[in-house]
Amino acid sequence: MKTIAVIGLGYIGLPTASLFATHGHKVIGVDVSERIVNTINRGEIHIEEPGLYTLAQAAVGSGNLRASLKPEISDVYIICVPTPVTKDKAADMTYVDDAVQSIVPLVKKGDLVILESTSPPGTTRDRIAPVVI
Ligand SMILES: NC(=O)c1ccc[n+]([C@@H]2O[C@H](COP(=O)([O-])OP(=O)(O)OC[C@H]3O[C@@H](n4cnc5c(N)ncnc54)[C@H](O)[C@@H]3O)[C@@H](O)[C@H]2O)c1
Repeated sequence: MKTIAVIGLGYIGLPTASLFATHGHKVIGVDVSERIVNTINRGEIHIEEPGLYTLAQAAVGSGNLRASLKPEISDVYIICVPTPVTKDKAADMTYVDDAVQSIVPLVKKGDLVILESTSPPGTTRDRIAPVVI
């Protein structure tokens, strides 16, 4: 089983992290919000989504999901941070860039980095790969 870091524990990241954890993977869920990290580590959730409370509680209760303010060395990194639309109708990539910087010191040869955040085509190839490889 792989160790998976899910960066950003919102509507996309928390269900993703919880699903992998309930299927036997070690998951480190990362968020910049201390409130969110503490809430999840208590086996509670900070967002409303049908079925998520039960799933996240099982994930944390299994010992496979732990939330943290900082990423840790993993085999797979899944980025699920916001990409809000700017005034000019472009994607604001600030959160993605910050998330990528947070994993740069950890990524090793053979790891998998997945960008789940809604982004312009080519972002993984042109913006992320040159930074993490
Ligand atoms: N929610 C949806 O239904 C949905 C659907 C399709 C696509 N998306 C896309 O998925 C992405 C995430 O959306 P969401 O709804 O999960 O957002 P969200 O706001 O619910 O969650 C994002 C989380 O990322 C955290 N975060 C921000 N910067 C961080 C960083 N540098 N390191 C760690 N955590 C950080 C925030 O504190 C927040 O908890 C966006 O690009 C969105 O467009 C969302």
